[in-house]
Amino acid sequence: MNLLEVHKVSKRFGGLQALNRVSLHVAEKEIVGLIGPNGAGKTTLFNVINGVYRPEEGRVIFRGRDITGRMPYEIARLGIARAHQIVRPLNELTVLENVMVGACFGRENRSLRGAREIALAVLEQVGLASKRDMVAGQLNVAEKKRLEMARALAARPYLLLLDEVLAGLNPTEVAAMLEVIRAIRESGITVLMIEHLMHAIMNISDRIIVLDYGEVIAEGTPQEIARHPKVIEAYLGDPRLSYSLLEANGG
Ligand SMILES: Nc1ncnc2c1ncn2[C@@H]1O[C@H](COP(=O)(O)OP(=O)(O)O)[C@@H](O)[C@H]1O
Ligand SMILES: [Mg+2]
Repeated sequence: MNLLEVHKVSKRFGGLQALNRVSLHVAEKEIVGLIGPNGAGKTTLFNVINGVYRPEEGRVIFRGRDITGRMPYEIARLGIARAHQIVRPLNELTVLENVMVGACFGRENRSLRGAREIALAVLEQVGLASKRDMVAGQLNVAEKKRLEMARALAARPYLLLLDEVLAGLNPTEVAAMLEVIRAIRESGITVLMIEHLMHAIMNISDRIIVLDYGEVIAEGTPQEIARHPKVIEAYLGDPRLSYSLLEANGG
């Protein structure tokens, strides 16, 4: 069964067509990678899915229900959580308190005690339990990314949207984060993730969707995508991306 269906969604900013009739689906318990050059429209698509932007045309169907144009807090309650590209924790609160806030805005209505229990469990899940009493502002980049994941997970989502959670991490931290994401899927949560690190996304995704100039240009298994002529063409203009594509192809 499809957990998420996006049907011919378009979103424009003034004269710029950020998304042009984008259609895709995510099946239950899949890990789907969403890739594409800078400015392709990836984050905008997340913003449409979770209600930050209303598309000019098209529909977003989640668990069989049309959620197009719903407010972000409603969509969070329905079970879509998101980890943002730019992580902004509440710096004066502790790690635990930050995650409790996430639990309070989630799918289930929570008492403070319930929120604390969930927060402790997801901190364990993302490997941040030992930092729970630290003030969030003191975490390093990798820890802040884990905190952002924990905050999203505390909402008990069916679908987790991850926007470049591996960016800025060293190879060891990337490997550890991939393990966390796999474990999240094992726990029954579906993952749609935007990522620039090609070898990482190739490694973890069941299926990859490629956006370029607001359009889906390819979709397939990691192996298919790494060799797809349109994908190679789209990435040639970007040295960083074409290098990582080359790497993913085994040099
Ligand atoms: N709020 C906005 N106002 C105007 N233009 C925007 C806005 N958000 C995104 N854009 C533009 O839409 C295009 C797609 O952006 P984005 O979805 O952030 O791309 P990606 O995440 O794939 O790098 C870019 O050209 C970007 O400058
Ligand atoms: Mg983006």
